[in-house]
Amino acid sequence: MIRRLFLFFSIFVFVLVTVTCQTTTTTKNNSRTFIVDYPNDRFLKDGQPFRYVSGSIHYFRVPKQYWQDRLKKMRSGGLNAIQTYVEWSSHEPMPGQYDFDGQNNLIEFIRLAQTENLLVILRVGPYICAERDLGGLPFWLLREPNITLRTSDPRFLRPVNRWLEILLPKIRPLLYENGGPIIMLQVENEYGSYGCDLNYTIHLRDKFREILGHQVVLFTTDGNGDGYLRCGHIPHVLTTIDFGSGTNVTKAKQTLYRHQEFGPFINSEYYSGWLDYWQSNFNFVNVNPFIETLQELLDNNASVNIYMYHGGSNFDFKASGNGGDENYQPTLTSYDYDAPINEAGDLNEKYFAIRDLIAQYLPTDSIDERNIKAVSEKMSLPPINMTFVATIFDLLPFLANKTLSKYPLTFEQVNQAYGFLLYQTNLTFHPTNPAILSVPGLRDRAHVFVDQRFAGILSRTQKYFNLSILAHNGSELSILVENQGRCSYGCINEHRGIIGNVTVNHKHLLINWTIYNLPFDEHSFIDTVTQLLQSKTTLQFESNYYRIPSIYIANFTLPKLPGYPLDTFLQTNGWSKGVAFLNNHNLGRYWPVAGPQITVYAPGPYFNRAPNSNEIILFELDESPCWYDSNNNCQIQFVKQHIVNGTYAN
Ligand SMILES: *[C@@H]1O[C@H](CO)[C@@H](O)[C@H](O)[C@H]1NC(C)=O
Ligand SMILES: *[C@@H]1O[C@H](CO)[C@@H](O)[C@H](O)[C@H]1NC(C)=O
Ligand SMILES: *[C@@H]1O[C@H](CO)[C@@H](O)[C@H](O)[C@H]1NC(C)=O
Ligand SMILES: *[C@@H]1O[C@H](CO)[C@@H](O)[C@H](O)[C@H]1NC(C)=O
Ligand SMILES: *[C@@H]1O[C@H](CO)[C@@H](O)[C@H](O)[C@H]1NC(C)=O
Ligand SMILES: *[C@@H]1O[C@H](CO)[C@@H](O)[C@H](O)[C@H]1NC(C)=O
Ligand SMILES: *[C@@H]1O[C@H](CO)[C@@H](O)[C@H](O)[C@H]1NC(C)=O
Ligand SMILES: *[C@@H]1O[C@H](CO)[C@@H](O)[C@H](O)[C@H]1NC(C)=O
Ligand SMILES: *[C@@H]1O[C@H](CO)[C@@H](O)[C@H](O)[C@H]1NC(C)=O
Ligand SMILES: *[C@@H]1O[C@H](CO)[C@@H](O)[C@H](O)[C@H]1NC(C)=O
Ligand SMILES: *[C@@H]1O[C@H](CO)[C@@H](O)[C@H](O)[C@H]1NC(C)=O
Ligand SMILES: *[C@@H]1O[C@H](CO)[C@@H](O)[C@H](O)[C@H]1NC(C)=O
Repeated sequence: MIRRLFLFFSIFVFVLVTVTCQTTTTTKNNSRTFIVDYPNDRFLKDGQPFRYVSGSIHYFRVPKQYWQDRLKKMRSGGLNAIQTYVEWSSHEPMPGQYDFDGQNNLIEFIRLAQTENLLVILRVGPYICAERDLGGLPFWLLREPNITLRTSDPRFLRPVNRWLEILLPKIRPLLYENGGPIIMLQVENEYGSYGCDLNYTIHLRDKFREILGHQVVLFTTDGNGDGYLRCGHIPHVLTTIDFGSGTNVTKAKQTLYRHQEFGPFINSEYYSGWLDYWQSNFNFVNVNPFIETLQELLDNNASVNIYMYHGGSNFDFKASGNGGDENYQPTLTSYDYDAPINEAGDLNEKYFAIRDLIAQYLPTDSIDERNIKAVSEKMSLPPINMTFVATIFDLLPFLANKTLSKYPLTFEQVNQAYGFLLYQTNLTFHPTNPAILSVPGLRDRAHVFVDQRFAGILSRTQKYFNLSILAHNGSELSILVENQGRCSYGCINEHRGIIGNVTVNHKHLLINWTIYNLPFDEHSFIDTVTQLLQSKTTLQFESNYYRIPSIYIANFTLPKLPGYPLDTFLQTNGWSKGVAFLNNHNLGRYWPVAGPQITVYAPGPYFNRAPNSNEIILFELDESPCWYDSNNNCQIQFVKQHIVNGTYAN
């Protein structure tokens, strides 16, 4: 009944919109159209009924050199569309500084998809979640005092508008109606799980329409539940839902239609796997239940996006955390996701099962499958001896800018996006020993040193905010804080670093801090380390460097073998926790003693062929094997076997 009423309303809106557009765009080639046929619960592409089976791939998680390879594999898997998020933080790293080049060349990525005969579903957000730092929002938004992200707070809307006015005009020529591959754009992301500020979501909708025209298909994605859809739904925007295998599809469909009486049934995130945290088990999704529910969706005429189809990697410091004070957990460097195309681009059982199923539902184009190699060859290299360069304390004069402040400052206050901050102060009193150092505002993990000797580790995940130390009047206290990833979900408005005061024995407030910036961003960090090495002889490793975070480096040459360099995996057995840099690429964090990820993906294109032209730098935080055996065991290795699903330590 209500469905009938809505039908009339939808037709009315549709006619109104069509008329408006025809009056403003007279030169449009009308043969390229993509619209929602609400009354018939379907899409019409060029006037013909249409549905998509798409897969998620994020350009920012796949080395640019592999974009085409992965897209080809997706097309050969039977998909007719791909879905990607747009990561604002990568494109506007500092306010008003834009980056659409190289790895951030979103336009090229979209064009490549079109070349591979794939339509594109673009999830603009600007909040995207995606297990990325701050859900893809730039960290500098949090420099604005009292800003409330993802609301109509003008402090948030101003930079959002500026960003959309840069981004959307670049997107407009890529819309389907303008000859490009983009059929739909997503507004916000699972907003119903977060807030209920309709002024905000309507503002976004109108901004998209203002720049992209009124014909463009906009949609929202929310969890499969009335509670999510109530606030996630935006009037006159197509509503879609997300859920994984084993879900009752009939029930999900009923839930969707309670909030949108007519329109195509769409699952925007049908989960091929799941996200993974350090110090947790790897999550698997089995092929059979996955295929069963997919078939049920397709039998229900649904359009489906498989999330993820190819997960890729969280290179750099871009992996997020989740959970907040109750249960903060950082996500892995790998975003393998147990997806049909694994982290290194190889096809697995799920890929072929999906392909065979889709073939029964979608018209299959002529695809040259002979060009698709299911598993690419990998290389292994002989063990590489790492050379100790310097401790973090040695490096301070070369690497770090510093700020003096009475109370601790956050990453945002010192204008640093990612990496580490070192907080230093001198005790001006003699504490009763052992003294309790308290850092309740810690985000997220810290190494504590008294007079540059290791005193212990604090961890938000493990809820260790107090440490017993031995100190005296005049002792220099250093706290090296790692930002393990701003929350993408559950704790979005959080700052990083030390967000409160630090005390000793719960009564002495520590003041007069020197705060060193250690962003370790790819270029400045590697340049500085390299220059440092060239300017003086390597420092000797000394026994009192025990557990002081330090830099190690090695030069190496690839064997002269055909096809090299190939993909490989960094194995850091014996090392504990740190960050690995390969030739100007931050490969991300390694933490094999925590697991479940044991090795780190090192893409072939990141290596060089010339002799001695490869450089690997580790910043090891906890404990290096060099300490135990400086001659024989100070090694890393590149191996053929990737382990993301290993055992984990709790
Ligand atoms: C309109 O688009 C169709 C489909 O892309 C194309 O075949 C046709 O040549 C175009 N016509 C004009 C006038 O551009
Ligand atoms: C932020 O909010 C606090 C508490 O409401 C208020 O005291 C302060 O003035 C606000 N700061 C700014 C810059 O608006
Ligand atoms: C939404 O806008 C209306 C009208 O401007 C205003 O009265 C209302 O307080 C706003 N709501 C929120 C949540 O900002
Ligand atoms: C799925 O949901 C429908 C509608 O709520 C219900 O009738 C059906 O029994 C459910 N199926 C299963 C297997 O639970
Ligand atoms: C799917 O669409 C076809 C064609 O419009 C229709 O005949 C059929 O009833 C639909 N199936 C379901 C389960 O909605
Ligand atoms: C220190 O800050 C200046 C100005 O922001 C910047 O140009 C420079 O690169 C920074 N130096 C280091 C070592 O980070
Ligand atoms: C601590 O004291 C030493 C020695 O006086 C001084 O060189 C250093 O700058 C002080 N550190 C801080 C953080 O104030
Ligand atoms: C730190 O302590 C000072 C002095 O008591 C206080 O003014 C300040 O607000 C405290 N800072 C935080 C973040 O609690
Ligand atoms: C902190 O610094 C201020 C200004 O330099 C100085 O007057 C004060 O004595 C210092 N206090 C402590 C406890 O270090
Ligand atoms: C690596 O090799 C290059 C070229 O031989 C040399 O310039 C550089 O100093 C070496 N670096 C290290 C860490 O050995
Ligand atoms: C690495 O170090 C070991 C032990 O000192 C030595 O035997 C080996 O030759 C070294 N390997 C390379 C490639 O230098
Ligand atoms: C873990 O991954 C490896 C390599 O991809 C695979 O062979 C193995 O079956 C996986 N383990 C489980 C329990 O699935």
